Amino acid sequence: MLVVMVGTGYVGLVSGVCFAEFGHDVICVDKDPAKIQTLKDGGIPIFEPGLQDLVKKNVEAGRLSFSTDLPSAMENADAVFIAVGTPSRRGDGFADLTYVYAAAEEIAEHMNGFTVVVTKSTVPVGTGDEVERIIGKKHNPENFAVVSNPEFLREGAAINDFKHPDRVVVGTQNEQAKEVMRDLYRPLYINETPILFTERRTSELIKYAGNAFLATKITFINEMADLCEAVGADVQQVARGIGLDKRIGSKFLHAGPGYGGSCFPKDTVALVRTGDEADVNLSIVKSVVDANDRRKIRMAKKIIDHLGSVDGKTIAVLGLAFKPNTDDMRDAPSITIISMLQKNGAIIRAYDPESMVEARKSLDNVSYAENAYDCMEGADALVIITEWDEFRALDMNRVKSLLTEPNVIDLRNIYPLYDMKTLGIKYISVGR
Ligand code: UDX
Repeated sequence: MLVVMVGTGYVGLVSGVCFAEFGHDVICVDKDPAKIQTLKDGGIPIFEPGLQDLVKKNVEAGRLSFSTDLPSAMENADAVFIAVGTPSRRGDGFADLTYVYAAAEEIAEHMNGFTVVVTKSTVPVGTGDEVERIIGKKHNPENFAVVSNPEFLREGAAINDFKHPDRVVVGTQNEQAKEVMRDLYRPLYINETPILFTERRTSELIKYAGNAFLATKITFINEMADLCEAVGADVQQVARGIGLDKRIGSKFLHAGPGYGGSCFPKDTVALVRTGDEADVNLSIVKSVVDANDRRKIRMAKKIIDHLGSVDGKTIAVLGLAFKPNTDDMRDAPSITIISMLQKNGAIIRAYDPESMVEARKSLDNVSYAENAYDCMEGADALVIITEWDEFRALDMNRVKSLLTEPNVIDLRNIYPLYDMKTLGIKYISVGR
């Protein structure tokens, strides 16, 4: 099989490399010559554990290559994946489909022989119809099929998620396309991964419904955390107590500073817009979006309340990325929390193992430390925003000696309450 992946962002690169790992021939195409050159030189434009080694291995095996030349790449392609960005359109929260449609135009220009065109980018319901219309202007319907195949990759765990998915969703009713998609994902049969064939619009919606449900689950437990604080209960035990019920499940019940990242914030808002357009009031998803926005502000207030005032105080922040094992700062709760602390007069010193280069683009007037302990030296309080492994076993006696006051605010609940109390740390966490 020859697969062409259009777009070498997060989704395109991970999917392309993993298809090559499955044994297919893959050409990853991007318009950005600098990006392609970096990849050709063995560099990786994003941070994802394990990706660089996998790229190297598959390039050396001759299955994976990079190019800016879509027409040549497409010459013998069995499937062309559209994996370009769909950012939030400024102002209204709709997904911006400019890049998807531009890719479709270009694919139509250079397609020859029966080709399966697959949208992997997260696209609103009905986008496949438009891609089909664009390609249909130049080709007969029997020469191509437009398929939806959403990704469910988590940043930081993307390779494992691709190779061991809970399910693969394929939206098409075209039998020839189903065969091609089955061949592409055949290596997963060994793990008995369910492959769900649906109508295309259903497949497009599954992606949004999945992300909105997970965002709802997180937001629910975050609100329970607030209630726990108010009534004197422990949210971690509540989460365990409800999570053991198989109908609920224990995953995505960690209370924290609110969800961030490249998917949940953008996809929940886009889903609400789709509902509005279809005259369906998605009141639950709307509430989730609002509650998550308020949550980040609430976290900043929590810090300020704990310290009395932050005016003129130095706050050491550990963890800036929206979650561990990524350098991604998109919609990271740290951005809102830090800005609000700064507005209230705080001086911020921060450390993150991977995201400090990215963070400089979203945060002003923050100084950056070399490591976690440098970050807290002489600070008035320590705030943990992202639960990187290296923050999970800090030497608390050292932390105490470095801070002017032993204030530790842990927004990810990584330390046991009892230990902190015994050590004499003025410790607060979330919902405990
Ligand atoms: C998510 C989906 O999981 C993935 O299937 C989809 O394809 C893209 O969006 P990702 O954004 O990489 O993946 O991160 P994820 O691990 O899902 O976490 C999202 C956010 O939720 C993070 O900010 C994380 O800190 C937060 N979160 C997650 C919680 O606050 N509590 C939890 O219990 C789980």
